[in-house]
Amino acid sequence: MPQSIDAGTTTEGAKRVVRVSADQRGREEALTRLVLDAFAKTGSPRLRQLLTALVRHLHAYAREVRLTEAEWNAAIQFLSDAGHITTDKRQEFILLSDVLGLSIETITINSDAHGGATEATLFGPFFVQGAPLIANGEDMSFGAQGRPLWAEGSIRDTNGNGVNGARIDVWECDGDGLYDVQYTDGRVDCRAHLFSDSDGNYRFWGLKPVPYPIPTDGPVGRLLKAAGRSPMRAAHLHFMVTAPGHQTLVTEMFDTRDDYVTHDSVFGVKQSLIKTYEDCPRGTPTPDGRTLDSDWSKVRFDIVLAPEPAAVDPQAEVEVVQEARP
Ligand code: BEZ
Ligand code: FE
Repeated sequence: MPQSIDAGTTTEGAKRVVRVSADQRGREEALTRLVLDAFAKTGSPRLRQLLTALVRHLHAYAREVRLTEAEWNAAIQFLSDAGHITTDKRQEFILLSDVLGLSIETITINSDAHGGATEATLFGPFFVQGAPLIANGEDMSFGAQGRPLWAEGSIRDTNGNGVNGARIDVWECDGDGLYDVQYTDGRVDCRAHLFSDSDGNYRFWGLKPVPYPIPTDGPVGRLLKAAGRSPMRAAHLHFMVTAPGHQTLVTEMFDTRDDYVTHDSVFGVKQSLIKTYEDCPRGTPTPDGRTLDSDWSKVRFDIVLAPEPAAVDPQAEVEVVQEARP
């Protein structure tokens, strides 16, 4: 008998009940053991751990959902489509990892709370190396359309000391929800880098972030549609902060009044990263003593950098000790 079956497969309403006999379960589990044995001699302990855990979880998944061959073929087709649409500018597999929450889960695993350090979140696909240098107080929007935003804050270590000379890369979409790399004319705007001053403070002009959709013209878009999920990202401003002796921080700053903070399509929002933007009507004097002829906003984002982590042996198997919840 190919499948299960002490009583066979029946349909009860919308649910298809599949009974799996003890014999069938034994055959399925023996197969998993066979595959695990095949990987048992993998030289690197860490690679062996990664591969064998992957096999255990994949097989358990297939057994749990009683994966059909048609479903597996559809999944292969989906992954093939993701490969075909991927280029050096478009990475559908990262997008897939993002919407499955695997990107943010991996970031969260690797940024365990470091004595109050700022939480990390997604890097996203729109960072570009070599963004222009601006001085503190200058404008990183370079004339892009949108509502002006004054952003300021401090860069501190976990002991509260200001970090002088930290490199702060900032990037965001324009007021239409487009990053400059999505323009067709090669313009560079809404991205820059600056350095914290001798007290560890920074300030710059940018644009108040707006929500925007992640790319939906590929298989990940189809997946979101089939799942009835929105492609919208919560409005955010990207930060990457690097300073010697500190762990590089990749993070985003969100807006408490943005509807999408509660259902970001890539799960990047963390409560500690949601800030209140103060909206100022046209004519309100700005922190740098100017009068703008448009409404503008301001926000403060204080950043705490974790100390540089100790080096680890990348080939070592990892043993996890789960502490009890308090
Ligand atoms: C972004 O933050 O820019 C982003 C992150 C994940 C998917 C798409 C965009
Ligand atoms: Fe983004």
